[in-house]
Amino acid sequence: MHMKIAILGTGVLATVYGAMLARAGHEVVLLGRPAAVRRVAASPARLTGALDVTQQLQAETVPHWVRRNGSADLLLVCTKAITTEEQLAPLRGARLGGAASFQNGVLKDGYLAQVVGVDRVITAETMLSAALTGEGVVVVTKGAALLSGPADPVPFARALQSAGLPVDISDDPASLVWSKASIVAAGFGVSCLSRQPAQGIFPSPLLAGLFLDLVEEVGGVAAALGVQLRDYPALPAGTFMAQSREDNLSLLRDLGRQLQSAPAPQRVSMLQDLEAGRPLEVEEVLGGMTAQAERAGVSTPTLHFCYRLLSGLEELRSK
Ligand SMILES: NC(=O)c1ccc[n+]([C@@H]2O[C@H](COP(=O)([O-])OP(=O)(O)OC[C@H]3O[C@@H](n4cnc5c(N)ncnc54)[C@H](OP(=O)(O)O)[C@@H]3O)[C@@H](O)[C@H]2O)c1
Repeated sequence: MHMKIAILGTGVLATVYGAMLARAGHEVVLLGRPAAVRRVAASPARLTGALDVTQQLQAETVPHWVRRNGSADLLLVCTKAITTEEQLAPLRGARLGGAASFQNGVLKDGYLAQVVGVDRVITAETMLSAALTGEGVVVVTKGAALLSGPADPVPFARALQSAGLPVDISDDPASLVWSKASIVAAGFGVSCLSRQPAQGIFPSPLLAGLFLDLVEEVGGVAAALGVQLRDYPALPAGTFMAQSREDNLSLLRDLGRQLQSAPAPQRVSMLQDLEAGRPLEVEEVLGGMTAQAERAGVSTPTLHFCYRLLSGLEELRSK
């Protein structure tokens, strides 16, 4: 079925999903800030790596789109998870059939619910990874979009499949969000504090152990909220919670070995942002879950340490 999709964002993830959906015949508009809208209009998007696509995209600013009565079957949020609530506020005036967000963190679906109502939110995560080269080309490593309710994810799943993008549907939205968030918090936390790519972390028993401490702490918070971490494609959060520490370290060592053959060091996006002096998604990725831990009375010393240190760095950089 043909879908009308408005993508909030003009960065790499918005470009990949926008280009693939538009190429498959869906009606796609990217919504962004004026300079980015001009950049999108100026030349076609180019994807390389696992995908080889050149596609011109349409883009508008949010106020312009809303003023001219913008409507979409789905709003797909692909901006940085920084001040998301403020980014979404102007979209309350738009006619939206539903909304999904590929942002990282545990707060995003609550923000979407304020815009479209809780029953129209599709919980979404992506295991695809994308980064920009110096020449403005987006390099893509393929990975599935993971979708769940409360809204019916099937039409969006079909649209993604029609664009050649793999999808996995599950029936427990909270588990999906917390499972991805546990790996992201652990990966971002250890990478930023050690300044190491994944290839550097996983073979080191100390750094890999820190990664596992973080996954377990987030799993403890999720459990206190009645949510169980599970496995999803390329996301073994359930396994990390169930296996012995020794087996987990061995799993991470194997993963580290596989990554050695990757063409470039795998630097998580928060590490790239830290090194480039860009704002960090600290609040959405780590702050949301530390606040939940406090409310639930769960002790998360390592998570709190990472959160305080990265928030402190953010504070220094913003002065
Ligand atoms: N890239 C990946 O492989 C990947 C994979 C999974 C999840 N994610 C998550 O997906 C989200 C988007 O990532 P990305 O890699 O596509 O980022 P990106 O290339 O840096 O693009 C970020 C987008 O967010 C916009 N933005 C940033 N700060 C903003 C603000 N304060 N207000 C309004 N717009 C703002 C930027 O607009 P301007 O250009 O105008 O600054 C740009 O359109 C993040 O939450 C990330 O963690 C990324």
